[in-house]
Amino acid sequence: MTRLELTWPNKDRFLLVPKDDDGKPVWVDRDHPAAAEVRVSDFTASIGEVNAADPYADNLLFTGDSLDVLRILTTVPEYARRYKGKVKLVYIDPPFNTGQAFEHYDDWLEHATWLSFMDERLRMIRDLLAPDGSLWVHLDDAEHHHMRVLLDDRFGRASFVDTVVWQKADSPRNSARWFSNDQDYISVYAKDPARWMPNRLSRTEQANSIYTNPDSDPRGPWLAGDPYANKPYSKGLYEFTGPTGRVFAPPPGKFWRVAEERLRELDDDGRIWWGPSGDARPSIKRYLSEVSDLVPRTLWLSADVGSNRTSNLEVKRLFPGETAFSTPKPERLLERIIHIGSNPGDIVLDCFGGSGTTAAVAQKMGRRWITAEVLPETVEKFTRRRLELVVKGEDSGGITGSVGWEGGVGFRMVDVGPSMYVDTPFGVLLSDEATNGTFAKAVAGQLGYDFQPDAKPLCGVQGRMRLAVLDGTVGEEEVRAVVSALGEGERVEIVGRSVLDGAAATLTQLAKGSKITKAPRDLLTAARRIRRHADREANE
Ligand SMILES: C[S@@+](CC[C@H](N)C(=O)[O-])C[C@H]1O[C@@H](n2cnc3c(N)ncnc32)[C@H](O)[C@@H]1O
Repeated sequence: MTRLELTWPNKDRFLLVPKDDDGKPVWVDRDHPAAAEVRVSDFTASIGEVNAADPYADNLLFTGDSLDVLRILTTVPEYARRYKGKVKLVYIDPPFNTGQAFEHYDDWLEHATWLSFMDERLRMIRDLLAPDGSLWVHLDDAEHHHMRVLLDDRFGRASFVDTVVWQKADSPRNSARWFSNDQDYISVYAKDPARWMPNRLSRTEQANSIYTNPDSDPRGPWLAGDPYANKPYSKGLYEFTGPTGRVFAPPPGKFWRVAEERLRELDDDGRIWWGPSGDARPSIKRYLSEVSDLVPRTLWLSADVGSNRTSNLEVKRLFPGETAFSTPKPERLLERIIHIGSNPGDIVLDCFGGSGTTAAVAQKMGRRWITAEVLPETVEKFTRRRLELVVKGEDSGGITGSVGWEGGVGFRMVDVGPSMYVDTPFGVLLSDEATNGTFAKAVAGQLGYDFQPDAKPLCGVQGRMRLAVLDGTVGEEEVRAVVSALGEGERVEIVGRSVLDGAAATLTQLAKGSKITKAPRDLLTAARRIRRHADREANE
């Protein structure tokens, strides 16, 4: 049965590079080796108190692409053991795709490319989330609607919890063409809604201020509750006489909320309010001392959690006189998210770290954190320095005062290594760096070609025969690319780690007398054949 689904060009392919040097995305098939590459990572520095025996269990600031970092966390055993299925809260504030080129990063991808970009990462985020964990995705109107459908697809519609609307602007922008936009959206998904137990918010002074105590009730301030309900209730229709003899009954279509005996009990206990002169309609008192913390609402006002102005000031205060990071989020916004979605000691992940707000707030709230930022300049200028100030207790802004943070704990810096693959005009190939040219050189030597390192994608010559070594999969595309590099009358031997159907036929058609050799399977037999041939020549 076909079902509703979001689809886009190249959805079934793997987005290797969102933007190459020419600003174009690079896609490869899902079975291309580059699509599954797990990069090497190194601990490069430690700041503050870290865990000498288990560096993987520290707070971690990765410099690298979220894709590579998520792949490392989900695949490399030392990380996967600690993080797969163990992360309690993921908050991401990815590039919104608004088309703006910010001072510190460029916020534009074609919509379909952006979806692939996010999709790949969401799959791994899901694997990292604990069964009782939640994902919070922060976006604006540019992509929020696409993301909701994508999240429904990846997590299941039942996992959708709600959308938080955050008032990011605290004043109108009169230069706006149509509307001055006030809000961002944060989509909340629970990995398993049956197991997710969000924390409630502490009651605010404002929420408490509506409770009063006009009759000096010893139980403290209370709120007058409606005694009538709309729901038909078998014991809900009766007449009740108040202290002045006035008789009360529910208005038409309404019912008493409690049975007559219960109402009398409440009245005897002083829990009914009959108005200042004792003859008003009864109200059932709800005491402040008996109400629980507040269930979070979905409209988050700047007065409660800060606005963009707040976060810009927070970052400016951290680094006075410097060009501020373009799109930080307020600490109080993250405080609320982290409070609702996690408890002290839990692991919080943000793989679009920016200036490091999530990590800074998580640390001040006693959570463990992992964050990643792709741009080394951003890490050096903002993320690392901000988190160092937090560790040293030298960041007095944001939520520092309200949570009583005085510094402490530490973190490790982790660098993600370069890719083994390069995007060339002939396709995505294993880079020289990855093999150091040694794989190609070894193959050339083994097969009796003179090695030619500078003739990419060709790398060897033997009379009119040329050699191409692709440390990856040889398909029709690769064959065409290699053949186009041949000179007049030349033939080629293409060596690849795997060979797709149709590649050999295409090669024969394009360059008669050429062949494909599979490494390492065919190399050994080919090398033996060459050695036998050489021995024979020597003996003659
Ligand atoms: C909207 S900002 C996040 C701001 C952050 N929440 C804060 O409070 O500072 C998005 C960040 O994601 C980074 N980014 C973009 N693409 C990335 C990728 N593929 N992997 C990791 N970070 C990326 C950008 O460089 C930018 O710093």
